[in-house]
Amino acid sequence: MRAWRVHELGDPAEVLGLEYLPDPDPGAGQLVLTVHACALNFPDILQCRGEYQVKPPLPFIPGLEVCGTVVATAPGLEARMGERVVAPPAQPHGGLATRTVVDAHEAFPVPYTMTDAEAAGLTVTYQTSWFALFRRARLRPGETVLVHAGAGGVGSAAIQLAKSAGAVVFATAGGPAKTEVCRELGADVAIDYLADDFVEMVKDLTGGEGVDVVYDPVGGDTFDRSRRIVAWEGRILPIGFTSGRIADAPTNHALLKNYSVVGVHWARYRDHDPDAVIECHHELCRLYEQGSIKPLVGAEHPLEDAPAALTALGSRSTVGKIVVLCEPRSRS
Ligand SMILES: NC(=O)c1ccc[n+]([C@@H]2O[C@H](COP(=O)([O-])OP(=O)(O)OC[C@H]3O[C@@H](n4cnc5c(N)ncnc54)[C@H](OP(=O)(O)O)[C@@H]3O)[C@@H](O)[C@H]2O)c1
Repeated sequence: MRAWRVHELGDPAEVLGLEYLPDPDPGAGQLVLTVHACALNFPDILQCRGEYQVKPPLPFIPGLEVCGTVVATAPGLEARMGERVVAPPAQPHGGLATRTVVDAHEAFPVPYTMTDAEAAGLTVTYQTSWFALFRRARLRPGETVLVHAGAGGVGSAAIQLAKSAGAVVFATAGGPAKTEVCRELGADVAIDYLADDFVEMVKDLTGGEGVDVVYDPVGGDTFDRSRRIVAWEGRILPIGFTSGRIADAPTNHALLKNYSVVGVHWARYRDHDPDAVIECHHELCRLYEQGSIKPLVGAEHPLEDAPAALTALGSRSTVGKIVVLCEPRSRS
């Protein structure tokens, strides 16, 4: 197989090398997939640099979510041969390869109407936003949600999911092209934070009340400023820190304004509550089939271009999901 591997930590463009490796064998309870599509995530960049909370042993293959077809199985799992599934690869196996290994209990079939590129982004991206909004923030119909980096990977999923649940969605993004993407995704209000002060705009538009839920993949100043516009009994969801700074949450401010800071680490649900992960997958497929969600594929790249695609993701020049077509079934 061909795979991008990291032997020492650093920026993806500097440390990724494309290698020919023997095809992997499945361990107990595992499946081998031909990888049709691998969706990129900001944590792929952070893992290459050694800056993510989960640090796979070196050398490792990046790529946290894939769509592929089962081509080999552990004994007892032969019935799954030929299934098209989505799954998170079992690290140090990764998605930026023509073959990968996944745990069978985490490999879920997808609707045949969903393209490989769309399906590749369904696991980390949509599950994170679903758990954040519905399990952690307990979002209710009619509530207001502010989604930061709304044109990005997890942000675009959060806009669609919040709208599908009957929420009123405010989104922020950098620049007019990205705010247009947010509107197309369903945001009721899209704020170009490079041109306008999102704090003042949200205050004006909510009559000073603020929003019930803040979905924040950015952190840093964005988190600090969002505390000023979270509503009474609101919830702020720290999703990630693309700004590069992990903000502090002063407890006296949470006390005075009666809001909660609610942590979200989706990957931990895979061990803590695997049944909920399966339920979430079924719900996401149902929402897709009824037309309520549709993964936004911002760009597709051949396997050879994976480092450049990761560089683009890290330089805020992308929208939606950036997908690497590792061993395409067909154009999708
Ligand atoms: N908690 C979890 O379980 C979980 C799961 C998956 C991902 N995440 C986190 O979610 C965040 C987003 O991941 P993603 O893959 O969906 O990425 P993404 O949103 O597609 O890309 C990052 C976006 O962040 C914004 N941004 C703001 N400041 C930035 C900076 N200094 N450098 C780069 N980007 C900046 C940019 O949007 P604008 O140009 O609009 O500002 C950029 O497009 C990451 O922090 C990731 O670790 C968390």
